[in-house]
Amino acid sequence: MSEGTIVAGALAPHPPHLVYAENPPQNEPVAECGWETLRWGYERMRRDLDALAYDVLVVFSPHWQTYIGTHFLGVPHFQNKSVDPIFPNLFRYDYTLDVDVPLAEAICEEARDAGLVTKMMRNPDFRVDYGTIVSCHMVRPRWDKPIVSISSCRSHAYYSTEVMQEQAIALGQATARAIERSGKRAVLLASCSLSHRHFVTESELPEDMSKEHITNHNQYLWDMRIIQMIKEGRTKELIDVQPEFISQAITETDSGALTWMLAALGMPQLAGEVYAYGTVIGTGNAVVGWYPKGVPA
Ligand SMILES: [Fe+2]
Repeated sequence: MSEGTIVAGALAPHPPHLVYAENPPQNEPVAECGWETLRWGYERMRRDLDALAYDVLVVFSPHWQTYIGTHFLGVPHFQNKSVDPIFPNLFRYDYTLDVDVPLAEAICEEARDAGLVTKMMRNPDFRVDYGTIVSCHMVRPRWDKPIVSISSCRSHAYYSTEVMQEQAIALGQATARAIERSGKRAVLLASCSLSHRHFVTESELPEDMSKEHITNHNQYLWDMRIIQMIKEGRTKELIDVQPEFISQAITETDSGALTWMLAALGMPQLAGEVYAYGTVIGTGNAVVGWYPKGVPA
């Protein structure tokens, strides 16, 4: 068996609005339009990812929150309806997905050997979280690749950003080792927004783009600073500024998703391909791909 590899890592934010605006057959509510900059960015990233040969999507989601250790989906197939708890008016999505259980088990074991608390989730009636579903849908709406879904153990909230970073880095390295041993080609998805202050009321028509903008200028400046680091491949600095970024921009990277993904890639000095930046109810979202072997032609 040849050595497995991570063919790409991606920042793949999961506002349900993006699925809503796309009107796929799986989603019940119907939109007129909306959030095109982000959706068209996702379309371009899809094309680049599709040009790569890969076997599995490995996604880390802030919305599967497990307070004792990191959990992994451990059932081969899930089918159910996912309803966003905050936006049930936008996201009522019928999903059917396959899980690469052997790879999930391998990452779970590697992470346990590295000293992390881990657990396989074996409940067949478990409802898969919408962060996992939205990111995977936006990257691969055909759902023809199996996934590995990894929870966020919220160590930022329970301990500190530093503890979160340490654990996310160990989990990323364990993920890379398990993928290498598996012989598979994986795409990693960090399912999170950047700045995450959002409006507390929704406009009458959610897709009314005349109402969409960043919550405040401070959030925007932080997002631009982070994107500049991404474009210049300053990965280590990107990780080092997380404590400040998280506390000042209330970011969704507090979940560990971004740190995990960059650690799995080996913190490369590698520029990310920024496909889009846009806001959703005031939060900052970037769609970015990192390609260790270069951006697909
Ligand atoms: Fe979220």
